[in-house]
Amino acid sequence: MSTVLPATSENIRYGAELIRAGRLVAFPTETVYGLGANAYLADAVAHIFEAKNRPTFNPLISHIADIDFLNEYAHTDDRVLSLAKHFWPGPLTLVLKRKDMSPSLDLACAGLSTVTVRMPNHPVALNLIRASGVPIVAPSANRSQSISPTTADHVWQSLGDRVDLILDGGPCSVGVESTIIDLTGKQVVMLRPGGLAREDLESFLNEPILLSHGNPDLPSSPGQMLKHYAPTHPFRINVNMPEPDEFFIGFGDIGVTAPLNLSPSGDLCEAAAHLFDYMHRADEQTTYPKIAMAPIPEQGLGLAINDRIRRASYRK
Ligand code: TXA
Ligand code: MG
Repeated sequence: MSTVLPATSENIRYGAELIRAGRLVAFPTETVYGLGANAYLADAVAHIFEAKNRPTFNPLISHIADIDFLNEYAHTDDRVLSLAKHFWPGPLTLVLKRKDMSPSLDLACAGLSTVTVRMPNHPVALNLIRASGVPIVAPSANRSQSISPTTADHVWQSLGDRVDLILDGGPCSVGVESTIIDLTGKQVVMLRPGGLAREDLESFLNEPILLSHGNPDLPSSPGQMLKHYAPTHPFRINVNMPEPDEFFIGFGDIGVTAPLNLSPSGDLCEAAAHLFDYMHRADEQTTYPKIAMAPIPEQGLGLAINDRIRRASYRK
């Protein structure tokens, strides 16, 4: 079957089967095309980063089709719910405090204690999410650093066979990514300007919105990352032979016994899918006072894994 198919009901159902099975499906939203995967399957989420050649694990936007679901996923309050009811479906993305702490969501959330959610205003996207029965995480469906795709052909040109199916729903009407606001603090902070104007948000909230001066593509600025990732135990990386007081996380065929191995077969996608969960587990155990991790090859998803563990092992 060809990778690009018109977004008919039958093909949307087929796309939903693929999503449930852990495959990648690109689909139209009103802003740009998204590269979608089942939010609860870390291995599928790892394939998103691999397909995009993303050198870091950025937190991904979970796309949902039902506001009621938000309460299971994130901590909500009146401000969150009123914004969602007013602006959804539409180009507004909310960064919220994460409620669903299942480890399978860790990679989608890049190990953070926040979860990022939006309800797209596009019938194909909404039908795909409903038919899948799970939130669909989706960054823009292009290779890292290249221009965001607003047609199925852009997706094909950028990703080709790296995606299992591209649902063609015609050109996107908004054409720029969603506006992202952080609602985890007292003040609303805009992390990325986008398809919904700041003025519209301010007049609805009746208060000014702060503009973040960070780079929206690097929410993981070292300071922030250190706070969120640094295990409480001292953490050493690139270790071939752990010390007796180190909880060792292996990778590949390491020749020493390790309580956890990111991927015994040396598969970087599998390693990425396990990374945050294993780091949590290593930090929660109390038998060893320190943590060490085997070397991870600096290729493919290894770049993103090394980026994260370098930050996590950093000590001032
Ligand atoms: O319009 C859109 O938002 C499109 C469509 C497909 O929905 N999606 C999109 O996703 O633009 P992406 O991954 O290309 O951009 C999302 C941005 C990234 O820069 C990510 O770092 C940031 O949002 N982001 C996501 N969650 C965050 C969080 N918890 N804190 C800070 N930044 C976050
Ligand atoms: Mg993008």
